[in-house]
Amino acid sequence: MTLTNSQIQNLITEAQAAMLEAHATYSNFMVGAALLMEDGSVIRGANIENASFGATICAERSAIASALSQGKRGIKAVAVTNATDAKITPCGICRQVLYEYGTDIPVICSNQMGEHIIYSISELLPHAFTLN
Ligand code: THU
Repeated sequence: MTLTNSQIQNLITEAQAAMLEAHATYSNFMVGAALLMEDGSVIRGANIENASFGATICAERSAIASALSQGKRGIKAVAVTNATDAKITPCGICRQVLYEYGTDIPVICSNQMGEHIIYSISELLPHAFTLN
């Protein structure tokens, strides 16, 4: 789908707000994500770390779990941001999980200044695993 500039800016702003809720006690690497859903709502997520490091959930999957748990369906776009100058892209697990909900989902990858680059999930995860 084609996103408007205002949709992009709004998703980055929401992801920045989400990032403030991160529980990143161990890495100190705060991440925020925001999903634009089919019904127009925006659902936030932040990374939530744990003393058992493998129990950590990334911001993107946190947002997806929140959206689906609230009965929301249909992810139109996602923004991800962090508190550094790097325009971070989702990790491999998050790419796979996002792919579940659409092969063309735009992924807005932003740094702390709001500078961003947009990839489709298929660009980020070519030759994705599916059961088909
Ligand atoms: N992290 C995310 O939240 N999303 C990603 O796509 C990459 C990594 C988090 C997990 C961990 O809390 C911290 O960043 C450092 O890896």
